[in-house]
Amino acid sequence: MIDLLALATLDAALAESARLLAAAGIDGARLEARLLAGHVLGIDADAVIGRPGRRLAPGEAEKLAVVVRRRIEREPIAYILREREFWSLPFGVNDAVLIPRPDSETLVAAALDWTSDRGAPLRILDLGTGSGCLLLSVLSELPNAHGVGVDISAHALRVARDNAGRLGLRARAGFVQGDWAGALTGEFDMILANPPYLAETELHALAPEIARFEPPVALFAGDDGLACYRALIPDLTRLLAEAGAAFLEIGAGQAAPVASLARNAGLIQSMARKDLAGIDRCLVLRRP
Ligand SMILES: C[S@@+](CC[C@H](N)C(=O)[O-])C[C@H]1O[C@@H](n2cnc3c(N)ncnc32)[C@H](O)[C@@H]1O
Repeated sequence: MIDLLALATLDAALAESARLLAAAGIDGARLEARLLAGHVLGIDADAVIGRPGRRLAPGEAEKLAVVVRRRIEREPIAYILREREFWSLPFGVNDAVLIPRPDSETLVAAALDWTSDRGAPLRILDLGTGSGCLLLSVLSELPNAHGVGVDISAHALRVARDNAGRLGLRARAGFVQGDWAGALTGEFDMILANPPYLAETELHALAPEIARFEPPVALFAGDDGLACYRALIPDLTRLLAEAGAAFLEIGAGQAAPVASLARNAGLIQSMARKDLAGIDRCLVLRRP
């Protein structure tokens, strides 16, 4: 147990937490110390500083020591805080779901740019919904759209449903358990998918936060990282409405092989959209 109990004030506990996090190699240790202290005290991280003389109750010091220890053991801070912002919305997360990544906002931006009428009653499908971040972000911008999120993990679906409730979108978002779109029928105007796309051989190169804590079912897709695209792309042809579009997140270097899988399934690629690092991150597919 880290001994923060001996430190009577919040300022001293913050300084010690930041020191311990930095010594463990955590980037941004001071900010993370503030976030963790804010979490424990139930106040905003910005409100943690500038309180000279604020004393810590023993229970608060103990709780802070526990969360600092978890972070030193490389648990992602989003799991400790149980929240991550995505598309400027607060998403609840736990270790059943991938922590939403800024790169995935590329899909949301591409899907919204493609939408010519934001008031249209679009039908949206999100395959591998996880926390629901893609579907719920898009629904938050399209007031008359409805959507379905599919995931193989019942635990992830619970998180997605909670997020829909928290964001006031429960009436327009349904969630079903399934193996990609195999059991789905119907037509969708917009299909979103951020499937697992890491090769299993990449495990050793991942940061401990990812390798040890995020769910493998959300990360890995066979020996070459393409197994999930192979599984789900053939169903897109059947499920896309005539004028609809599918937005697929891809990993670095996957644009060509995934576009080839799409062509083999009878789809055409209308564009690839880059993320902020300039990497092709989203393939946009249509029916011919
Ligand atoms: C990379 S995560 C994406 C989560 C979320 N959409 C996002 O962008 O943050 C992939 C998701 O696909 C789900 N998944 C994996 N295999 C699946 C399958 N066979 N059928 C449906 N969902 C699956 C995982 O449980 C996980 O939630």
